[in-house]
Amino acid sequence: MTFGFFDDEHREYVITRPDTPLPWINYLGCQAYFGIISNTAGGYSFYRDARLRRITRYRYNNVPFDLGGRYIYLRDDESGEFWSPSWQPTRHDLENYTCRHGMGYTVIGSRYRGIEAHTNYFVPLDENLEIWQLTITNQRSKRAALSVFSSIEFCLWDAQDDATNFQRNFSIGQVEVEDGVIYHKTEYRERRNHFAYFTCSGKVETFDTQREVFVGPYRGWERPVGVERGRLANSIAHGWAPIGAHQVKLEFESGETQQIIFVLGYHENPQNQKFDPPDSQTLNKRTVKPVIAKYLDSAIVDTAFQNLRRYWNGLLSILQVETPDVHTNRMVNIWNAYQCMATFNLSRSASFYESGIGRGLGFRDSNQDLLGFVHMVPSRARERILDLAATHLPTGGAYHQYQPLTKRGNNDVGSNFNDDPHWLILGVAAYLKETGDWSILDEPVPYDNQPGSEQPLYEHLQRSFKYTLDRLGPHGLPLIGRADWNDCLNLNCFSDTPGQSFQTTTNKDGKVAESVFIAGLFVLAGRELADIAQRRGLAEEAKDHLAQVAKMEATIRQHGWDGEWFLRAYDDFGRKIGSKECLEGKIFIETQGFCVLAGVGLDDGMAVKSMDSVSKYLATEHGIILQQPAYSKYYLELGEISSYPPGYKENAGIFCHNNPWVMIAEARLGNGDRAHDYYSRINPSAREPIGELHRCEPYVYAQMIAGRDAPTYGEAKNSWLTGTAAWNYYAITQWILGIRTSFDGLRISPVIPKSWRGFKATRIFRGVTYHIVVERAGEGNQVALRVDGVPIKGDTVPLPGDGRREVLVQATLS
Ligand code: BGC
Ligand code: NOJ
Repeated sequence: MTFGFFDDEHREYVITRPDTPLPWINYLGCQAYFGIISNTAGGYSFYRDARLRRITRYRYNNVPFDLGGRYIYLRDDESGEFWSPSWQPTRHDLENYTCRHGMGYTVIGSRYRGIEAHTNYFVPLDENLEIWQLTITNQRSKRAALSVFSSIEFCLWDAQDDATNFQRNFSIGQVEVEDGVIYHKTEYRERRNHFAYFTCSGKVETFDTQREVFVGPYRGWERPVGVERGRLANSIAHGWAPIGAHQVKLEFESGETQQIIFVLGYHENPQNQKFDPPDSQTLNKRTVKPVIAKYLDSAIVDTAFQNLRRYWNGLLSILQVETPDVHTNRMVNIWNAYQCMATFNLSRSASFYESGIGRGLGFRDSNQDLLGFVHMVPSRARERILDLAATHLPTGGAYHQYQPLTKRGNNDVGSNFNDDPHWLILGVAAYLKETGDWSILDEPVPYDNQPGSEQPLYEHLQRSFKYTLDRLGPHGLPLIGRADWNDCLNLNCFSDTPGQSFQTTTNKDGKVAESVFIAGLFVLAGRELADIAQRRGLAEEAKDHLAQVAKMEATIRQHGWDGEWFLRAYDDFGRKIGSKECLEGKIFIETQGFCVLAGVGLDDGMAVKSMDSVSKYLATEHGIILQQPAYSKYYLELGEISSYPPGYKENAGIFCHNNPWVMIAEARLGNGDRAHDYYSRINPSAREPIGELHRCEPYVYAQMIAGRDAPTYGEAKNSWLTGTAAWNYYAITQWILGIRTSFDGLRISPVIPKSWRGFKATRIFRGVTYHIVVERAGEGNQVALRVDGVPIKGDTVPLPGDGRREVLVQATLS
């Protein structure tokens, strides 16, 4: 069963009934002001940091699940009946309900008793505000008199405090109201110089700013007393829960359409101009008034919306493909790229499953995210790399996370996740391959943000590589530390106390437990680093790196191979994990995918065996399971992985993030059929028809699909913010379609299904537009290239030396 459809032409997903299995969300904003919006207008907004600068309040895990948002109520002033055009919170039986989630905007609307109302929610580029553009049409045969009510609940800025510290919070709320603009200025009188405002283009008849006055005692958002009464109380919040609600009255002739614009914004005043007059406690509104005036003008709003659409069209045009598979096309051309921008912007901080207060930006996460967005916003990728590298530690290790507002490493989580530093090498390599901007390697970057400790970024990469060499275990494999990519394989934790964090509890000295995964990662990162060194003219260094890589590969062959697949790790007792000798957890996906994608075992049959084992033991119709058999009980020596019930999350769930590693591994082995088959099993668009089972949005990846050991096998969870986005994008575009960035130019090396007769693509790379036509002449993956009609050797298209901006590349596969 489906709950909507893809409108590929408009780059929208259209939801046609409001009661989706879970809230299906979208993101507004892509620079500093962000919002999350569900298909029934639930969600919230924040400025830069969902924890420290939350603008509107949201209660997670609510009943119903998604309650609280950007709610509009319409009231028929003749009958007194009122409803919400976005369904929530009144949940009337609407006609023609649709929610169009598009690129950076969402339009929700419906018709009820002849009144059609649609709201376009979006954040204009370069502004710290959001627009709700409400269009109402009276389709009745007679006149209509309506009241329009807006409503949002302000957050007292720090979302963590806001949800916990009520003894203080209930006394600090402050607002001002002037000319129909509601200003939220809690804590402005003391240490803050920022405030929020909520305004509208209509004549404000009445307003409320105190939540309990608006909703009424013992009522909720579904039946606010002020809306029911048809008149708000002009309340001014002193403490308790400041909100913003307006009432505008409109009269419509039959067939008439009118528009109201609501603007919710964030604004900062210079520290010495906070008050007006200066010796008062009154908010200085002079700086914000021009912004407000601008966006209450519907022509300006229309232009801002067109600019947003143009911006997204520009970003997406960097890679467009036309393959025989509609799901591939739609994900590559639209939604997967779009999701990569969300993971770039928000890392793992704020979705409907990440509360915005739990996590900052992850070091490993953000470096991997680069794979998916570097081609769209290279200058922001550069900035991100330098920010991440500044949280690198002098040991070569890294803070596991940093806060986006302060850009400082997060001490609560700390470091010692021994895979972390290598992802920086991979992130930088991806950036160099895309942009050719070698100057980034000479940028001075501090360690741990300490002034005076700056060294060129290149030196940071060296230290990352060396970090592992300084931390080898008894078998010569890398020590795992707190965890590797699998945050739940906590081999030095041994936690027996409820409530302890598996990620930060360390009861063992960490000198024994080793990770075969980090060994594979080391091989990949080492090869990239050697390539970089070579191109910087450091041949000796490159040779050393390759020698270390060869040694690590030999160690993997000797101590990391189990006969049919790669082992996963050694525990603190030196026992194997991910081996046929184990009772449970005999085979893990991570080392199969990553070792092979790093090139381990390609020439000695190990890679083929490893992939066959994945297909035999781990592949299911819903995707590839993380490990098998699932852990049926808690193992003290393994940590969080065995804390999950079988089939969920890292305990044998289908962790979508590492499925693409296997796709790439299969592509490296030349198996286009298998690679694309795996791709399709977790492709959200391909799963759209099983929406009732899948439950999450069909337009974006979820972190996990319940594995076959789970009672809810096939059910997705934790949509949107996951490394799945970048890795799938990278796997399909660079390895299966094979349009791969390299240090020397664009490689064209497709490994596509045998049944495909070819495909077309347009790729803008380093300022040049490549029109790529791939045709199958035989069943293999052997590529013959013609560039502007002229055959060339190899599979890398050199950058045109003569200033040409358009290049035609014809690739024949045989
Ligand atoms: C989750 C992991 C996550 C870790 C750190 C665990 O509970 O299962 O997927 O990486 O927390 O946030
Ligand atoms: C989610 C985390 O954000 C990521 O860093 C980790 O690699 C995976 N979970 C697997 O545990």
